Amino acid sequence: MTKALILSGGWGTRLRPLTCTIPKTLVPVGNRPVIERLMLLLKEAGVKEIVLAVSVMSEYLNNYFGNGEKLGLNLHYTNEKTPMGTAGALKLAEKYLKDDNFFMINGDIIINFDFKKMLESHKRDEEIGLIASRIVEDPSRYGVLISDKNKKIEKFLEKENFNPSIYGNSDMPVNAGIYILEPQIFHYIQANKKLSLERDIFPLLASEGKLFHYPIKGIWKDIGLPFQLLEGNILYMNDVIKKLNLEEKNIIDNTVQLDPSGKINSPIMIAKNVKLGKDNIIGPNVIIGENVEIGNKCIIRDSLIYNNVLISDNAQISKTIIADHSIIHHNATLQGNKENLVIISSYVQINKNIKLISSPNRAISVCHNEIVKTDRT
Ligand code: GTP
Repeated sequence: MTKALILSGGWGTRLRPLTCTIPKTLVPVGNRPVIERLMLLLKEAGVKEIVLAVSVMSEYLNNYFGNGEKLGLNLHYTNEKTPMGTAGALKLAEKYLKDDNFFMINGDIIINFDFKKMLESHKRDEEIGLIASRIVEDPSRYGVLISDKNKKIEKFLEKENFNPSIYGNSDMPVNAGIYILEPQIFHYIQANKKLSLERDIFPLLASEGKLFHYPIKGIWKDIGLPFQLLEGNILYMNDVIKKLNLEEKNIIDNTVQLDPSGKINSPIMIAKNVKLGKDNIIGPNVIIGENVEIGNKCIIRDSLIYNNVLISDNAQISKTIIADHSIIHHNATLQGNKENLVIISSYVQINKNIKLISSPNRAISVCHNEIVKTDRT
């Protein structure tokens, strides 16, 4: 049975301050950690044993998942004292993965595709690695795959090595961060050394003709940046609504207390034990976690709210992420601007009448435990 390795040990610097209090792979997607969604998808494809390559804030992942029993999975952990890079992390898992091919996945992506079909394709190629690929308009933020008509990769060009004047700058297949690898890969990775698969190993394997790529369909989003985390949640919500063919275009837990005076603009997603007061306008594109309380006359759109948040009356919230246990007092305005969101970390208090308004080129971030007493624009 094919096993899987999920990378979950990065610093998550681009998602700070949200990753100051939890590792990136525990941030919520549709109210569950992004990595848990990946585990469940792997389980659907028949994977029973998963290695988590952890490092930064590893104890949080240990505490949350334990031995995997609750998810019906058998979990192992490889713990790097400091992050060893994607290849260094893989090498540490050799003892669990040396007997058969295995999946390897970045733990910070939102996907929904059939792993079994990818495995069938890999078996036909009979090579060391199969890389899931995606065509993107702007490949400059990814590793670009230059391949022949049979999808054999000739060049693997990580961001800094990709020259658009040679290869063009649009509609290129890029590395989607999901691989099937054969145990021979371990011969290419030196032990006890910080190494990157994408920079040190894949370019070499590509030059030897040992990698293929596999275009994936369905949703695909990495949540490296705050606006991508918000977009990813919206994408996930829409995907679930589409799959369930819901008439209402909302996913609202039946424990949610909604006052009939309020208005909902679909799509929205609300988890259990949430209470909404009178005359609120919620949505579109709002995802609300568990145990959240929202007062009266609030307008909330295009935002992600984690668990255990309290929002008082007359809040105006858009393009904002609010992490767990934060309190937003009366008459607050939290307004992001395009990709520059307002980001409220855990255990924050926003005092009454405060305005946090991002500009087109600067996000506003509030660190955990902060009390915000003055406006920021
Ligand atoms: P940034 O600091 O914002 O770039 O985030 P990151 O450190 O998480 O890096 P990146 O987005 O490239 O990571 C993609 C995936 O690989 C995430 O799931 C990370 O947790 C994981 N990852 C990155 N570097 C390492 C590493 O050195 N060791 C392990 N075990 N995982 C890693």
